[in-house]
Amino acid sequence: MDYKFLDISLVSTSAIVKINRVEKLNALNGEIINNLLMLFENIEEDKNIKVVILTGAGDKAFVAGADIYEMANLNTIEAYQFAKKGTNLLKFIDNSTKIIISAVNGYALGGGFELALAADIIIASKNAKFGFPEVTLGIIPGFGGTQNLPRALGPYLAKELIFSGRIIDSLEAFNLGLVNKIVEPDKLIDITLELAKKISSNGFLALSAAKESINNGLNVGKNEGLNYESNLFAKLFSTNDQKEGMKAFLEKRKPEFKNM
Ligand code: HXC
Repeated sequence: MDYKFLDISLVSTSAIVKINRVEKLNALNGEIINNLLMLFENIEEDKNIKVVILTGAGDKAFVAGADIYEMANLNTIEAYQFAKKGTNLLKFIDNSTKIIISAVNGYALGGGFELALAADIIIASKNAKFGFPEVTLGIIPGFGGTQNLPRALGPYLAKELIFSGRIIDSLEAFNLGLVNKIVEPDKLIDITLELAKKISSNGFLALSAAKESINNGLNVGKNEGLNYESNLFAKLFSTNDQKEGMKAFLEKRKPEFKNM
């Protein structure tokens, strides 16, 4: 299937999804958001894919935000629908069984920063820049930024960044704990693929359960999170992968996970 503004390639068990609207710095219009959701729904069904790498085309931007041209004349109802469209995509990414890595090249602003933050891991090229300029446009982040940034940084730093609209570079983002690793721009995809390969060598059901447990725990109290974790832990003991993983250890060999 063809998705306008999206380039998709497969490397082993990783799908690389590149947002490609270079002339507008990959700004997210409604069509891109719809296509991303459709693509993620299809990827979810694909048993061969374990990791999805999200990136932007060109060397200037990951995504420079939601499309300001498209938003400029929205009425209140349309603005609500637009925000919902974006948050539905980000919720889908959150709940996806796949491990999602944002490989951020250049600007990740507004909705682009929110998309990057929705991933499980963020690898940034040296030239990456992150920020929420929404207040400079008279709006607020509307694709989950006011929820995900405080969860990542705590309320004080998140408020400073959202209230000021200040754009931070990759080093500051790394020092704040927003970015897992900074790499040379021309190595961004290769290094991200190496990480994807390392992750993919592990049991997929365990990966998905770990993601689910962590994400659930960020939204509930600790005791509830611990119960959830115990249940997921126990559930894995009904899988072949758990039997294979432990048998392989005892037999001093590498496991062959079948994701079942
Ligand atoms: C639409 C955009 C865009 C955007 C850039 N472009 N960002 N178009 N929406 N978010 C377009 C420009 O209009 C221009 O096309 C082309 O991309 C190149 O951009 P330039 O501005 O010429 O590049 P440069 O001078 O290098 O500046 C780069 C930049 C600047 C600093 C990133 O483009 C910028 O400030 N962009 C807006 C960033 C922003 O405010 N993002 C948050 C949006 S609000 P034309 O054809 O005009 O020359 C948001 C809300 C999310 O994301 C939540 C919604 C519910």
